[in-house]
Amino acid sequence: MMIRPRRLRRTPAIRRMVKETSISVDDLIYPVFVKHGKGEREPIPSMVGHHRLSVDELVKEVAEVWSLGIPAVILFGLPKKKDELGSEAYAGDGIVQQALGAIKERVPKLTIITDVCLCEYTDHGHCGIIEDGRVDNDATLEILSRIALSHAKAGADFVAPSDMMDGRVKAIRDTLERDGFKDTGILAYAVKYASSFYGPFREAADCAPQFGDRAGYQMDPANAREALKEALIDVEEGADIIMIKPALPYLDIIHQVRANINLPIAAYNVSGEYAMVKAADQRGWIAGEKVMMEMLISIKRAGADLILTYFAKEVAAVLIEHESIYAEKG
Ligand code: PBG
Repeated sequence: MMIRPRRLRRTPAIRRMVKETSISVDDLIYPVFVKHGKGEREPIPSMVGHHRLSVDELVKEVAEVWSLGIPAVILFGLPKKKDELGSEAYAGDGIVQQALGAIKERVPKLTIITDVCLCEYTDHGHCGIIEDGRVDNDATLEILSRIALSHAKAGADFVAPSDMMDGRVKAIRDTLERDGFKDTGILAYAVKYASSFYGPFREAADCAPQFGDRAGYQMDPANAREALKEALIDVEEGADIIMIKPALPYLDIIHQVRANINLPIAAYNVSGEYAMVKAADQRGWIAGEKVMMEMLISIKRAGADLILTYFAKEVAAVLIEHESIYAEKG
């Protein structure tokens, strides 16, 4: 007797039946950048198809995202002015707070996640408050809690701290509970590496550190055991969803965290992962759309439930097309 695994690969319909992993629009979270002004749609050169949008344009964009079936967006804000404390980050009329109000009014069912961090708002570009040339952990916690509370007040469904300070999930959870925002969730950037794959994002959000780097708070790419330690701390402190970031170079980490933690796991398919595919596709060196789908299925196969990805709209379009051609083409 010969064992023939190819029997299960014979026709497209059989292949669909034995497929182990699938991707759905339900899994997608679309990142968007919001800036001050009106009628603004400023292209981000290293992130083809993405723009810095004023609130009015953002509302149109997220209405389209919702109409494609995507359940959530994550908001990143570009302040009018940066300062030492990143004060626009927690201002009641800050750009993210304004965007939350406008989206909740026009696209009320969409889930809105907000990035909670200081690096876009501080003049030094670090993710916290500087004391003696170093990011001061505990002084930063107080400001992060203020940012999270101001987002919750403006209507955020989830706040997503991305700063990597110790104790921030607990500090934010305590603040939200104390002020009556018991239903505002926390999507914790629990396992965030000091990665060079964030390059295009730092251009988009103008948030590169003006001195030094982020290695004093983000994780060393060489460390895997430490990932589980970080994830378990955030579970303990009250996170609702655990995120790993970046995604593709860290599939082993996604797998390990999935195997050990029962919360939903999100993976951030970051700006550099997106830009590489777009750049190679533009040169005709790879088939961009196929590579996109293969990348995302690998992230799901590793164990992610949710994927934050700049490809979300394109993936949704591909999924809609696939469904409609099954019947004709098998
Ligand atoms: C802010 C933040 C960053 C990203 C998300 N939130 C940049 C950084 O930590 O330097 C990166 C996202 C991406 O590259 O797509 N702290």
